[in-house]
Amino acid sequence: MTELSTTDSQHLWRLARKPSKGWPTDGDFNWTEEPIPDPGANQLCSRTIYLSMDPYQWVRRRTGTEQPGDICHGRTVSQVVKSNHSDYDEGDYLFNTNGWSEFGLTGDGIDHFNYMLPRKLDATAAPLSTAIGVLGMLGLTAYAGSIVQCDPQPGETFVVSAASGGVGQIAGQLARIRGCRVVGIAGVDEKCQYVVNELGFDACVSHLSETLGDDLKCACPDGIDVYFENVGGKVFDAVAPLLNTKSRVSVCGMISQYGLADPHISRQLWNETGQPHFDRNDVTIHDLFVGNFVKDYQTKFLAEASAWYRDGELKYREDFWDGLEKAPKALNAMLTGHNFGKMIVRV
Ligand SMILES: NC(=O)c1ccc[n+]([C@@H]2O[C@H](COP(=O)([O-])OP(=O)(O)OC[C@H]3O[C@@H](n4cnc5c(N)ncnc54)[C@H](OP(=O)(O)O)[C@@H]3O)[C@@H](O)[C@H]2O)c1
Repeated sequence: MTELSTTDSQHLWRLARKPSKGWPTDGDFNWTEEPIPDPGANQLCSRTIYLSMDPYQWVRRRTGTEQPGDICHGRTVSQVVKSNHSDYDEGDYLFNTNGWSEFGLTGDGIDHFNYMLPRKLDATAAPLSTAIGVLGMLGLTAYAGSIVQCDPQPGETFVVSAASGGVGQIAGQLARIRGCRVVGIAGVDEKCQYVVNELGFDACVSHLSETLGDDLKCACPDGIDVYFENVGGKVFDAVAPLLNTKSRVSVCGMISQYGLADPHISRQLWNETGQPHFDRNDVTIHDLFVGNFVKDYQTKFLAEASAWYRDGELKYREDFWDGLEKAPKALNAMLTGHNFGKMIVRV
């Protein structure tokens, strides 16, 4: 491992301004060169290897949770380069929250804005990048929404939007493992073919089709029993009429809304007071926030998902972009459907 001195510098991204409506542009961020931080007592400094690109990062910036001047937040996989922390040695790999920076501090007094605490990773057990994906927050999100909230039963029809994306690909496969008929909704043909041919979904329809509603009806002849919502907007409009009595919806996200003028993401199913205004009392709507499931479900999920992943039962596609300098463009690409699989920047 390279010896570090405190005179060494690193690159990182800071938020330049509070973004207005729309999608990320280079002008929203400042690329700076700064000293590598020196760890204090009970802290460590680690070099970022993988940086997770997640839709919520944009929401944080647009709603002001992240302020101009802040280092852009992001979950990471990294390697310890200097440790004053008794739990970690130099060379250890860990899941942590270095943000959009080449190096970062972890440990006492560091605010990680992360309900998923730093943990050591075993590089021989699974590829390191899975810790920010299928065996991390994304996988737990898919598990919480599909299995815990909606409890899909064998033979039921399970529909998931953004079906080839980070969360969607996992949610659909978990339902397939449960014995459901799984129908994906995705963008381009290549993504639709992937979820059917590689992930074993029963069908997939494109939201780019002008006949989305009819296509979905054909793919779901018995209606929809469970819907895992990642997108909102016109995709939900196509799903809603097909929801069966006693169906369940997990509202995981509404990515189509994240560039709207009102940054306090108006979830289409709710009004300002948090009451559902999707007017069907025979359908159960679950709002999903993965942080609520970490304490009770993370250990169980990790055990089950690691085994499925190891056995090839649970497949997982990643979309790597090389170079931290590409982070703003990578975030934009993911928010506008130009990723294919879980979006990761290889730092
Ligand atoms: N509730 C929670 O705790 C929680 C935690 C993690 C993630 N999430 C949510 O999960 C969802 C998926 O996140 P992810 O990280 O896995 O991203 P992702 O699915 O890998 O990437 C986003 C995908 O959304 C689709 N999309 C974007 N704009 C769209 C539009 N206008 N209409 C239809 N599809 C559109 C695109 O796929 P196509 O090309 O196929 O359209 C794009 O590839 C997001 O809504 C996110 O906010 C929620």
